[in-house]
Amino acid sequence: MAPFFVLFLLASSLTHGYAQFHPKNEAFMSLLITQNGLDFIRERLVKKAISSMISLQLPNIEKTSKIPFVGNVFLVLSNITIYRMGVPSSHVKPAETGISITASGVTCNLSMNWYYSYSTWLVPVEISDKGRAEVQVEGMEVGLTLGLENQEGSLKLKLKDCGSNVKDISIKLDGGASWLYQGLVDAFEDKIGSTVENAITKKLTKGISRLDSYLKSLPKEVPVDHQTFMNVTFVNDVLLSDSSVGFETNGLFVERNVSLPILDLYHKNSKLPFLCTNSTKMLGITLDEVVFNSASAVYYDAKFMHWIVDQIPDQSLLNTAGWRFIVPQLYKKYPNHDMNLNISLSSPPAVEITNQKAGASILADMTIDVLEEDEVIPVACISLEIQGTGLIKINGNNLVGAVRLNDFQMALKWSNIGNLRMYLIQPVVWTLIETVLLPYTNARLSKGLPLPIIHGFTLQNAEIILSTSRLAVCSDVAFAESNKRFLYFI
Ligand SMILES: *[C@@H]1O[C@H](CO)[C@@H](O)[C@H](O)[C@H]1NC(C)=O
Ligand SMILES: *[C@@H]1O[C@H](CO)[C@@H](O)[C@H](O)[C@H]1NC(C)=O
Ligand SMILES: *[C@@H]1O[C@H](CO)[C@@H](O)[C@H](O)[C@H]1NC(C)=O
Ligand SMILES: *[C@@H]1O[C@H](CO)[C@@H](O)[C@H](O)[C@H]1NC(C)=O
Ligand SMILES: *[C@@H]1O[C@H](CO)[C@@H](O)[C@H](O)[C@H]1NC(C)=O
Ligand SMILES: *[C@@H]1O[C@H](CO)[C@@H](O)[C@H](O)[C@H]1NC(C)=O
Repeated sequence: MAPFFVLFLLASSLTHGYAQFHPKNEAFMSLLITQNGLDFIRERLVKKAISSMISLQLPNIEKTSKIPFVGNVFLVLSNITIYRMGVPSSHVKPAETGISITASGVTCNLSMNWYYSYSTWLVPVEISDKGRAEVQVEGMEVGLTLGLENQEGSLKLKLKDCGSNVKDISIKLDGGASWLYQGLVDAFEDKIGSTVENAITKKLTKGISRLDSYLKSLPKEVPVDHQTFMNVTFVNDVLLSDSSVGFETNGLFVERNVSLPILDLYHKNSKLPFLCTNSTKMLGITLDEVVFNSASAVYYDAKFMHWIVDQIPDQSLLNTAGWRFIVPQLYKKYPNHDMNLNISLSSPPAVEITNQKAGASILADMTIDVLEEDEVIPVACISLEIQGTGLIKINGNNLVGAVRLNDFQMALKWSNIGNLRMYLIQPVVWTLIETVLLPYTNARLSKGLPLPIIHGFTLQNAEIILSTSRLAVCSDVAFAESNKRFLYFI
């Protein structure tokens, strides 16, 4: 993955040393799952739970029962298998104590073998018989409450409560003696009910613990490229409201293997809000502008922001002849010499988001070099202050951008060739920015910043909202069935 908010970041060289900051437990990215998102998850979980119950073998049930006119009969139900399950309605509701999921009107069809044996004083041999039975469990209620908390930067999912309750059971027998039906109902009705309840509870408990391991296994770092990652360590408590679940993560870009002095440039007292709370979308990801500035700082450190320009669309501008009328003294001193431009950003590009736009300002020094045989002679340096507006879009699960030049100021920093007439140079520099810097930057920005979306999910119908110093992506998600790892749990 390639760098994102890397404005004008150009390969070459510079020493490390800019801001790498390590704010403590500050959240710069938040994730919100709305009621629609929770419903989406609930549907998947219910579907998954049903398919995991199908073909489930329940333990045998045995009992010796006193049957009127027959005597003591040993009864066994074996090979008890759930072969169909229906969940007509289910709900999910976050609350302060946790997230509760309930399913009601659940039906369950089971098949089983029955067997009985008994002996009487009338006949000296044991009498036995066997056959098949169908059992229908109806009107079952299943409910569970999940606790969700931040445990050392990962999410911990705990099953706080789980129960099910069978309302009604009907039994259909294949064969058997006339007394058998009532005998089975009397002896086993409750037992079948509790066996099904136990099986469901056990399966759900196991499923939740798998889901918990899955959440625990989610990486705390989202790789951006081989040197850079986004720190998605969870910070602060999970926020449960009555219609959403919110998480906060660190969200900053970090460069591997670099430990630089803490510069608390980005300290903010304001609490990161959750945007998209009123959206009908399933998910909201809110990014503080600090996230983009951390990316910018990391890439500034990563030496990306220095560039020797020796090829441009209008190559004549890289020869003193091309500057003949703009800077006559340059041509006079170095006639027909090739030139290059050494552009260095003097600080990481600063990103600023308002509710109108996402903007970036860039401070750069452009040194004009004249090439003489093996020698590079710097002749003048112009400082630039460039203001751009970012056009931000979603592409797949990436936030991608493009920058448009709004304005720039320039000033002569130093010169070995006397004074320069800046008003003559200005249009040339504008052209250079438009034709060289922006296309280059936009090519990089188009690769985008990967948003922390669990593998297998894709954003759909995403919207971007700008707010003061923040940007939010409100989106629906789709799930690819091919995600084996996610499907594994339950
Ligand atoms: C990631 O963020 C957490 C929480 O803010 C912080 O404790 C941790 O040091 C960060 N990790 C890196 C590598 O910056
Ligand atoms: C057990 O039940 C399954 C499914 O209902 C059936 O296919 C299988 O034949 C049964 N096994 C025995 C030994 O009855
Ligand atoms: C399952 O049980 C329901 C009643 O609960 C019944 O209406 C339905 O026909 C049964 N399905 C099958 C496939 O046996
Ligand atoms: C970072 O350091 C680890 C060991 O400390 C090393 O294995 C790894 O190659 C380094 N990565 C980079 C990108 O320098
Ligand atoms: C959300 O909607 C409610 C009522 O529809 C409104 O009172 C509230 O101000 C809205 N919040 C935001 C952040 O737009
Ligand atoms: C480019 O300019 C910077 C100062 O702006 C200087 O430190 C660097 O050495 C120059 N690079 C080259 C290759 O001339």
